[in-house]
Amino acid sequence: MTASSASRQKTTPKLTQSPTWKALKDERAAWKNIHLRDLFAHDKKRNARYSLALDDADETFLLDYSKNLIRPQTLKLLLKLAKEAKVEALRDAMFSGEKINHTEGRAVLHTALRGKTPVQVDGYDVMPDIGAVLERMRVFADRVRTGKWKGYSGKPISDVVNIGIGGSDLGPAMACLALKPYGGNIRAHFVSNVDPSQLVDTLEDLDPATTLFIVASKTFTTQETLLNAQAARAWFLDTAKDPQQVAKHFVAVSTNAEAVAAFGIDTANMFGFWDWVGGRYSLWSAIGLPIALYIGMDAFEELLAGGHDLDTHFKEAPLDQNMPVLMALIGLWYTNFWDAQAYAVLPYEQRLARFPAYLQQLDMESSGKGITRDGKPVTCATGPVLFGEPGTNGQHAFYQLIHQGTALIPCDFIAGRESHNDVNGQHAVLLSNFLAQTEALMRGKTLLEVQKELTAEGRKPAEIKALAPHKVFPGNRPTNSLLYRRLTPRTLGRLIALYEHKVFVQGVLWNVNSYDQWGVELGKQLAKVILPELHGGKPGNHDSSTLGLIQRILGD
Ligand code: F6P
Repeated sequence: MTASSASRQKTTPKLTQSPTWKALKDERAAWKNIHLRDLFAHDKKRNARYSLALDDADETFLLDYSKNLIRPQTLKLLLKLAKEAKVEALRDAMFSGEKINHTEGRAVLHTALRGKTPVQVDGYDVMPDIGAVLERMRVFADRVRTGKWKGYSGKPISDVVNIGIGGSDLGPAMACLALKPYGGNIRAHFVSNVDPSQLVDTLEDLDPATTLFIVASKTFTTQETLLNAQAARAWFLDTAKDPQQVAKHFVAVSTNAEAVAAFGIDTANMFGFWDWVGGRYSLWSAIGLPIALYIGMDAFEELLAGGHDLDTHFKEAPLDQNMPVLMALIGLWYTNFWDAQAYAVLPYEQRLARFPAYLQQLDMESSGKGITRDGKPVTCATGPVLFGEPGTNGQHAFYQLIHQGTALIPCDFIAGRESHNDVNGQHAVLLSNFLAQTEALMRGKTLLEVQKELTAEGRKPAEIKALAPHKVFPGNRPTNSLLYRRLTPRTLGRLIALYEHKVFVQGVLWNVNSYDQWGVELGKQLAKVILPELHGGKPGNHDSSTLGLIQRILGD
């Protein structure tokens, strides 16, 4: 089947009624009597069997998926499901620029931003335009970073403030924090919320003469971003006075040149991208400008190269050795057959503190859908709730529930073998916790083991009887371990693209459009109706709760 016919045809509308789905239900039932502890005990090669690495000289990137509730027949069925859903054909359709985002009539080509081969959209090769924007980003980033770009008073730029929200904020903010060791002399700040406190707090210590604002919005219609940008311009002009100087301190990143001009930013200072870059997939485009300013364009291109490494792997590795495919299938196994409604991403890397928040948009805006590509209600659960915090912090907060609660929460544990800052031998302590947690979740602790421990402590039989049940860990709680050498730009690129492709595969399996986000619209519409009412306008036709709250806010 060609890629083109694959994306046109209705993809697996009856997946949940297929014999493979039914066989997976039976497989799930068989798992009632299986414990991972026993599987590990009886199969010394389990780790080798269920690990995959992208290895090159110094960028080890390993996925150990052996601590999952899988055995050969489970994987066989899941891989069959992927074949039946035509994952490979849909993947090829995406890479080749087909308009797989059918509800918006758009191609999905963030992979082209980090690629090298020509790709056509509507018969037009997009690569020269991508190259041209990258070149403009390089020239601009170099000028700012070397102090050649001067502010209105002749001083160089010291601080960059990115004003954007959602995909125009989360990716760059996450990446700048993650890549702090590669940062230069420019400080990067991010303002997203329409709550003015964030802007006020950010500007508090900044000097208008040395601050550059990037107004980042794919559509350039987003209320939060435009309001913050107006407020930032007023703050700037309060000191600079001369509106002519705005050009030296405000640049825009957008697909909408008209709206950028209407806002008052010279389009000569605009970095463009294209409708085939989804907001949550846009950090690889000019939306990554704050990253390029912060770490330099060479390092930004390393980030792109990391994404490209994963693209190549995703395109070329057979399904049973394909990291995003396996992660997607295992995730679906828990969502659809174990009723797992949440899933945790737990980086043992403080600088990945914003990675779970970034993934929340990537995963939940992509897979939080209840309607199939054919416009029918889905017949199985789709995207889970994603959450996470860096380890070891999370251990002292919500891990209790993951170990002993009633919900099954599959987890991804992420860590680097090396740290950029090994102070006091603490990196080994961090890694010992990373390892201990997945082992504990897998093994658990039996009643017998608890009783033995308490007896060894010299506790009395009555005390042991009362306490023991509370100290039992059921185990059999699934985890992936992702291990890289060190958090470099290239590694980060790999990590992000791995999750992007995982989300893509799940979208194909669930037969949902991963690239639209209509679910964010209703709230925006209603907020527009309510705003005039908060300014004293005529009360609208609301429910009594909303009306009551409006009255309270107005102090009536
Ligand atoms: O409201 C959701 C959303 O449309 C996201 O998908 C997007 O990343 C974000 O808003 C910001 O949009 P824009 O870049 O157009 O300002």
